[in-house]
Amino acid sequence: MATALIVLAAGQGTRMNSDLPKVLHPLGGVPLVVHAMASGNAVSPGKIVVVAGHGAKQVEPAAKAYNPDAIVVRQDEQLGTGHAVMQAAKALEGFKGDAIVVYGDTPFVRPETIAKMAAARAAGSAIVVLGFNTENPWRYGRLVIGPDGLDRIVEAKDATDQELEITLCNGGLVAADTTLLFDLLQSIGNDNASGEYYLTDIVAAARSRGLTASVVTCDESETLGINTRAELARAEAIFQSKKRAEALENGVTLTAPDSVFFCFDTVIGRDAVVEPNVVFGPDVTIESGATIRAFSHLEGCHVSREAVVGPYARLRPGAELAEGAKVGNFVEVKNAMISEGAKVNHLSYIGDASIGARSNIGAGTITCNYDGFMKHRTEIGEGAFIGSNTMLVAPVTIGNEAMTATGSVINKNVPDGALALARARQVTKPGMARKLFEKLRAAKAKRDKGA
Ligand code: UD1
Ligand code: CA
Repeated sequence: MATALIVLAAGQGTRMNSDLPKVLHPLGGVPLVVHAMASGNAVSPGKIVVVAGHGAKQVEPAAKAYNPDAIVVRQDEQLGTGHAVMQAAKALEGFKGDAIVVYGDTPFVRPETIAKMAAARAAGSAIVVLGFNTENPWRYGRLVIGPDGLDRIVEAKDATDQELEITLCNGGLVAADTTLLFDLLQSIGNDNASGEYYLTDIVAAARSRGLTASVVTCDESETLGINTRAELARAEAIFQSKKRAEALENGVTLTAPDSVFFCFDTVIGRDAVVEPNVVFGPDVTIESGATIRAFSHLEGCHVSREAVVGPYARLRPGAELAEGAKVGNFVEVKNAMISEGAKVNHLSYIGDASIGARSNIGAGTITCNYDGFMKHRTEIGEGAFIGSNTMLVAPVTIGNEAMTATGSVINKNVPDGALALARARQVTKPGMARKLFEKLRAAKAKRDKGA
């Protein structure tokens, strides 16, 4: 049966001290809310409803960028987690199956944990709550266990001293049949210390109807929520160390793991080598056996087998390196195909271009792709040789096995096999330098004497 995912993301996040809604702050290069949405992937949600409030106008496109089918609903006033879930009722009208509630600011819940909750539901509990044990229960809701499983959840603010002793806490996630969930929420009130509609009250409501509730526990680290910039920074460190460990486990060589920064969706193949101080932005795929040398920055690119990038290279969105391609130091590549075995080894900008197989691009070559209004393409054939410091004024096409002379400004197409020279001819004047030196030396001596 299908499962719906409800992501609570309406809170302001006051303690972030930010104009950006809390759930849009990035972790591993993507907004927090995307982590929450992705955590539900384990149950292949048939519907995703994001409850937005503060900054809903910005939250909506971010949620849809990750999943165009996500439905974003509004909670204009934040009256509590129960009230927030209620805002998803209309979007889920007639939905048959379970609903799982996750928090937009809690990015580390593992898909496996959500799968366990789904399994516990399948095993017969009307409500499944995610719990965790902690030595520091502080302001978390406490899970009150009775002879038949979970009896109720009491918020710290409303708890007795005795209840505050409980160390089994509410991680926030809840799974229940969708119809039952909204039905139970209809019955809850806001007569509590916060004056809020608590989602957690559905447990006692279910028990009073003779239904059972149970707890799936996870490690405390999974339920870590982000409330401040400091927590966000700590979360980033945790995220990065997880990604590093994952890469190492997958057979990637990281010579200095702590200095490599990954993104949420970075994919690196087995036996790839990543040297120190490499940063991966969103949407990067590195195939097996590729080498990313030190101090390189990559985003939105694909690096094929045996290709070598860097040191000090920058690959921007749309950079595509075929097998064995080389992009060396101080080279920037954007929206460009570098075909098999082609080399751009030093100090170049290659943008809106395609470079044929085995072509060599000399040091300092620039594709002049922008005329101040529009971008234009540079097409270079196979086995071509572009002399150092060639300016390729796009749109321009260089044929197969064509050559450009060093220092040329090429603004006309060069056919296959042709050599193009586009620079002033050299003039050499024998003895002229010596004469000039003498003249200058004499002028200086005269001035020094006068002074
Ligand atoms: C909640 C739980 C608590 C649990 C804790 C775990 C309730 C009543 N309490 O408390 O038992 O231990 O999470 O972190 O559920 N939100 C909305 N709209 C609202 C209120 C909240 O969208 O009106 C969203 C927030 O943006 C956040 C999530 O719901 O993503 C949790 O809300 P928060 O206020 O942080 O709940 P806690 O008080 O921490
Ligand atoms: Ca919280």
